Amino acid sequence: MDACPWVFSCASLHCRGMTKLTVAIFVHSLEQALSAAAQAAERGADLVEFRIDDFTSDHAALTQLIEQSPLPSIVTCRVSWEGGNYRGNDATRVAAYTAACAGTRKPAYLDVELVAYQKSHELRAGIDALVDHPAQLTTTDTGLILSNHDFDGRPLDLFQRIEVMLASNACRVMKIAWRARSLRDNLEAFGLVNQRHKPTIAMCMGDEGLASRVLSKKFNALLTFVALNPESATAPGQPTVEAMKKLYRWDAINAETRVYGVIGWPVGHSMSPAFHNAGFDATEFNGVYLPMPIPPEYEHFKATVLSWLSFEDLHFRGASVTIPHKQNLLRFVKEREGTIEPLAEKIGAANTLTVNDDGSLHASNTDYAAALDSVCDALSVPRQELAGKRVAVLGAGGAARAIVAAFAHYGATVVIYNRTFDKAEALAKEFNNSPTEQGGKAKVVAARVEKLCDSCCQVYINCTSVGMHPKVDESPVPAESANWETGGPGTVVFDTVYNPMETKLLREAKAAG
Ligand code: ATR
Repeated sequence: MDACPWVFSCASLHCRGMTKLTVAIFVHSLEQALSAAAQAAERGADLVEFRIDDFTSDHAALTQLIEQSPLPSIVTCRVSWEGGNYRGNDATRVAAYTAACAGTRKPAYLDVELVAYQKSHELRAGIDALVDHPAQLTTTDTGLILSNHDFDGRPLDLFQRIEVMLASNACRVMKIAWRARSLRDNLEAFGLVNQRHKPTIAMCMGDEGLASRVLSKKFNALLTFVALNPESATAPGQPTVEAMKKLYRWDAINAETRVYGVIGWPVGHSMSPAFHNAGFDATEFNGVYLPMPIPPEYEHFKATVLSWLSFEDLHFRGASVTIPHKQNLLRFVKEREGTIEPLAEKIGAANTLTVNDDGSLHASNTDYAAALDSVCDALSVPRQELAGKRVAVLGAGGAARAIVAAFAHYGATVVIYNRTFDKAEALAKEFNNSPTEQGGKAKVVAARVEKLCDSCCQVYINCTSVGMHPKVDESPVPAESANWETGGPGTVVFDTVYNPMETKLLREAKAAG
């Protein structure tokens, strides 16, 4: 454990590796706030932040709230011009903070906006009287958090603001929060926490800022904020305590944790974080896996991935890559002179970025292997015995490409059906006659969707997005073509859509036996 220069003022709260999971609670009544704090304690939080923006007049209740809180507390009365609800004057605000500090048990911290603290002598004098600092005459453990929030983006004068916080004798903790413009902003937040001139809370708001919250523990921030439930979040992008603990492996995160993610746009719907973090749990692997939204253009992909790769302490070790970046990944790894799996090259798209410990990159495609293994499993045949089977592929986009390449490579006759026939034809042309695993030539043809019912295939694979949430009542098979009796029992129908797990296509196929 590092030496902790602030132990004189607040015992263990500032020591390395002790990032506090802090549940933010809007206070509406004493009972409601205490009950929320009890739930926070039950779910494993370390601290609570009582947001008293709307609860400043019942002083007796404020004193009781802090005295009876099951967890140490931060008290915050956030003004409206910095994202809060408080619209009153400084005198009323100071009186509320004073009431919160009036019991024998004090808050661990008071949070006040830097700008208000600088601007108002009345507020500054009132707050300074309540918190611990070198000129304080009375004894108190309560520390002052000076905070700065920007809901539009990174403040241009971020460093000037930090200088002021550093220079303030009363300021024990610096808190900086801004809306992330991209995943790259998280790195600046990690950098601020890493400097450790004073205990620091640095976080980015919004979907792009999730990493700054989850990885705050990796970088030894003082604390990170979480919500009790999705509706009670006090800032955009704040995860719930449950998501932080269970989904994002909060208890397992430390300075050495390796970071992975799913890169896509949009990516919020992806179940990959649930799969991979559960896998890390099961194998006790020191990793965490995050959603990584990156806008579609190659320049965004390149700049973001490069910045994450070059931030050494982040230990970014790889990503799953989904729509619309599968081709960007190939281009990027080629440019960085990494290695590319031969079949990914042939498919023209990759979905997995591996970052080796020496920093070298590898791109591969797991889509085709997953599809081959799933279908072979269902047919109870090895890959070699796909030769001679007829496989209908619905769709001619990126996902279809990997599946066409895979089944053609193992000698199946592949028939591509697509809404836009030309695209089906172009894809068929590209893979028809390509060499197969068995040393022959691949057979790939295009056909009209209306002809699907005549196709007599043993395998049907949906590679379109039709049937995906929220349009769950759609099927990629036109009503007039849904004649599954041609296949009957033994026919394998495989949907690459997994949300919902059972699509309309699968329901109808099942009903037809
Ligand atoms: P992915 O990488 O997931 O394959 P894509 O490259 O955009 O995404 O391809 C989407 C596929 O779904 C295409 O084959 C598309 O058909 P078109 O080529 O005619 O656009 C197909 N698709 C999407 N929406 C569809 C719809 N409503 N009906 C039929 N096909 C659809």
